[in-house]
Amino acid sequence: MYDGKKIIPGLILFLGIVTYPIWHNTVSGKIDYVPKPKIPADKKECVEPKALIRVNHKDLLDDWKMSVVRSGIRTYQASNKKIYTMSLTRTCMNCHQDRKEFCDQCHNYMGVKNKCWDCHMYPKELKAEVK
Ligand code: HEC
Ligand code: HEC
Ligand code: HEC
Repeated sequence: MYDGKKIIPGLILFLGIVTYPIWHNTVSGKIDYVPKPKIPADKKECVEPKALIRVNHKDLLDDWKMSVVRSGIRTYQASNKKIYTMSLTRTCMNCHQDRKEFCDQCHNYMGVKNKCWDCHMYPKELKAEVK
């Protein structure tokens, strides 16, 4: 038997659920949202090539931390033979000054959380505190 009173609201509910991802993103203005990490305009290259650092920065930072904390070794020779000081604040954040415009762009999008900034400072934050 056809019961329009039940089927129509049921259909509307069903459509609402299956199309939720589409209208939710539209309503929240995120339909085309992609992270846009702001690259420092005055710098040409990262410690390692972009394709590598993009995927491996977590491991690189881990290696740096272990090297400094466990072995007291603070210099890193990159694959292009350049020498860097192994430091999150003084090296990475010296170029990527504001984590909100850079690191967080990707991390918020991907739902990556870390506690690094509970202890490590970044230049934008330091400037704000001096004021
Ligand atoms: C509880 C505080 C704390 C947290 C949280 C923390 N660190 Fe550290 N980290 C330290 C301390 C203390 C050192 C040793 C500093 C030194 O000897 O120069 C260090 C050293 C390092 C170093 C090498 C030295 C330097 O100046 O950067 C790296 C790289 C590093 N941490 C990365 C990270 C990353 C990445 C995270 C987040 C995943 C993190 N740390 C979270 C306290 C912390
Ligand atoms: C000398 C300045 C400099 C230092 C130091 C530096 N970066 Fe970079 N970083 C850059 C530049 C410039 C780019 C863009 C490279 C390109 O477009 O080829 C970049 C790219 C990246 C990317 C990829 C961004 C994307 O859009 O895919 C990540 C992730 C990154 N850096 C993280 C780090 C981390 C973590 C450190 C410390 C271990 C670090 N950077 C140290 C200048 C630097
Ligand atoms: C191009 C996008 C992008 C940028 C820019 C970026 N990250 Fe990441 N980061 C990721 C992704 C994706 C992951 C999770 C995948 C993984 O663990 O490798 C991640 C993971 C991490 C982790 C490990 C978190 C955990 O505990 O699992 C650390 C630490 C980290 N990023 C530090 C940084 C720092 C510091 C910066 C800024 C200097 C930065 N990232 C910039 C994309 C990015």
